Amino acid sequence: MDQILRRDGIMPSADLVIHSADIMVTMKGHSDSPACKEGMSEIGLIENGAVAVRDGKIVAVGSTEEVLADGWVGPYTVQINAQGKVVTPGFVDPHTHVIYAGSRENELSLKLKGVPYLEILRQGGGIHSTVRSTRLASDAEVKSQTRNRLKTMLSMGTTTAEVKSGYGLTLEEELRMLRLIKELDHEQDLDLVPTFMGAHAVPSGYTEEEFTDYVVEGMLPQVAFKGLAEFCDVFCEPGVFSVQSSERILKKARELNLKLKIHADELESAGGAELGAKMGVTSADHLLQASDQGISALAEQGVIAVLLPATSFNLAKNSYARARTMIEKGVPVAVATDSNPGSSPTESIPFVLTLACLYLRLTPEEAITAATINAAYAVGRAHQVGSLEIGKQGDILVLNVPNLNYLPYHFGNNPVDVVVKNGKIVWRV
Ligand code: NIG
Ligand code: FE
Repeated sequence: MDQILRRDGIMPSADLVIHSADIMVTMKGHSDSPACKEGMSEIGLIENGAVAVRDGKIVAVGSTEEVLADGWVGPYTVQINAQGKVVTPGFVDPHTHVIYAGSRENELSLKLKGVPYLEILRQGGGIHSTVRSTRLASDAEVKSQTRNRLKTMLSMGTTTAEVKSGYGLTLEEELRMLRLIKELDHEQDLDLVPTFMGAHAVPSGYTEEEFTDYVVEGMLPQVAFKGLAEFCDVFCEPGVFSVQSSERILKKARELNLKLKIHADELESAGGAELGAKMGVTSADHLLQASDQGISALAEQGVIAVLLPATSFNLAKNSYARARTMIEKGVPVAVATDSNPGSSPTESIPFVLTLACLYLRLTPEEAITAATINAAYAVGRAHQVGSLEIGKQGDILVLNVPNLNYLPYHFGNNPVDVVVKNGKIVWRV
């Protein structure tokens, strides 16, 4: 078992101990780099497992006999008996657009008539429609609607989430969204990782080049100066931001010491993955149409592929990213909800796990890796979250499933029994 020293009585007992888990997934063994190839199946299983948390951090992980014998349970320790259940690290959702106001169910009928996603955008709907409703909403309204979605995410096991701006599209509105992300990070339980995505769509009145100039010269320096974002992302897609425009934006962001992400090859294969590899992005996301060369380039550079099967599902084109090819070639794969009001109106990582198995053809083990440690790497938080290891945050799930296969198998409901964040129970059935 792994634990910090306590037998001699130096350490007081734990604040919380989860014990008797039929199966405990620790994700141990990926502390140097994201899991890839066969490594994605190595999930550090412990049978009859237990984990102890003190002052928000994990202090012991092992079998129930070991952890209980070492006296981590004291008179004030909260205990959770996870018999018949599965315990995992909290899910990390590494790609969301969860901060916005309004919704777009009106686009469903257009979609059912076959109007393409980018056509709805060109007609001033899509992202532009959410930009309008978000700009009209007060800070309090945007926060309250976003807080509700974050609550849903938490109840479904997400304990850390990346959140992108991108429904502002002016300097002032983008800074407002980033400021609200920061406030929400402090005001509720999930940890939020902020990403600046001013290059989400080209607003009317601008050419792509003019708006790219604005993002590069008018927005990015201010965003970096105010320290409101860790990552910069761009919607690199023909008809939105070309490879050339995306490269200008990512280069400027890199100069300003932001880490990089890219929405690449979602609807067309146009060199997005190749650009991501060239720019050394942390993650390239979507990748439905990524070319063989693009996938090889991602593998060579160790770029994480963040795959978004709920978006593929919701675009209803029966087209999913080539996850098996990516894994075979050595690309570390993560999964995310892409939670947004247009292409993926969901908050559910459990649903994403089902889709990841059925349509990305991941095994349940690979899917869990993709939603925990690899997702943590994709948001630059692998030293804090994504696995149950000594010193990491006590972000832990008790899942009401009898075994690992059951998790993706039984879909459409919430398998989460208890959510522990920093050692505290923050949600429970
Ligand atoms: O990742 N592709 C661009 N952005 C989002 C969609 C945002 C929206 O439709 O509101 C995505 O799918
Ligand atoms: Fe997205």
